[in-house]
Amino acid sequence: MKLKEMLREYLSEEELKHAPSTFDIIGSREKAVAIVEIDPILEDKKYLIAESIMKIHKNVKTVLRKLSERKTMYRIREYEILTGEEDTEVIHKEHGIRLKLDPRKVYFSPREATERLRVAKQVKPGEVVMVMFAGVGPYAFMITKVQPLVKKVIAIELNPYAYQYLVENVKLNKVENKVIPVLGDVRVMAKKWYGECDRVVMPLPKGAYRFLDEAFQCIKGEGVIHFYFWAREESLFNNAIEHIWGYAWKYKCSVKILDARKVLPYAPGVYKICVDFRVKNIY
Ligand SMILES: C[S@@+](CC[C@H](N)C(=O)[O-])C[C@H]1O[C@@H](n2cnc3c(N)ncnc32)[C@H](O)[C@@H]1O
Repeated sequence: MKLKEMLREYLSEEELKHAPSTFDIIGSREKAVAIVEIDPILEDKKYLIAESIMKIHKNVKTVLRKLSERKTMYRIREYEILTGEEDTEVIHKEHGIRLKLDPRKVYFSPREATERLRVAKQVKPGEVVMVMFAGVGPYAFMITKVQPLVKKVIAIELNPYAYQYLVENVKLNKVENKVIPVLGDVRVMAKKWYGECDRVVMPLPKGAYRFLDEAFQCIKGEGVIHFYFWAREESLFNNAIEHIWGYAWKYKCSVKILDARKVLPYAPGVYKICVDFRVKNIY
């Protein structure tokens, strides 16, 4: 049963217009957390909404309400527990990979699964891949799942909680021989792999452009960069591509845009976009 259908019994027609029709579920059949946005107009109905989510999805053990936008360098939110267990650590399953995480401590969005798969499918056997801003590892593990002949995936993450989960998830996905988890700032840690990577993934739409310097230097001779950015509808790819051209000039590289696409809506008129491009040293 859909949430709004269930709520029809308890809410007025006017209240129903403000009721959430979607929410995220993170976790597994055994234990999951639901994350929902509730209009302040429905403040006195929030517990009822949470209980209804739990009735529909028996695996949901906690319902969290979003209390803020994503904040800080770690890109995490504040939440209110509406109902259920205090312990919100889960194991999320996505296209055959397993990710242990606590959504209250780290960034994770199940909505980006298709995008991760799209990037992973492009990886060729023998490649060395750097995943900057790796979080708990969804890109890294999707890559090793889809392309088991990848040579190495270097996954760099700043949030110590996310890094801890990343380390655990390496074991959980049995890729100790492929994925190298690195704790720290990409600005500092990426240096170790300058000139060694075939591919760099940059999944930090808020600010990845400030790390293009490091991404270009990680590529060995020729390679591909997946660059994420927030863009307004009216000039979707222009700013992102201008940033790319700036570094191509700085590092004397030729650039070929392979793809430029909307990934997900972010806010009214604003999208998370991805530009995939090939760089090649020309000197
Ligand atoms: C938008 S999240 C993406 C996480 C992960 N790739 C995913 O798809 O779930 C960005 C991540 O980058 C991390 N981060 C932010 N600035 C960083 C930096 N300078 N160096 C390394 N990691 C950083 C944050 O802690 C956060 O986990």
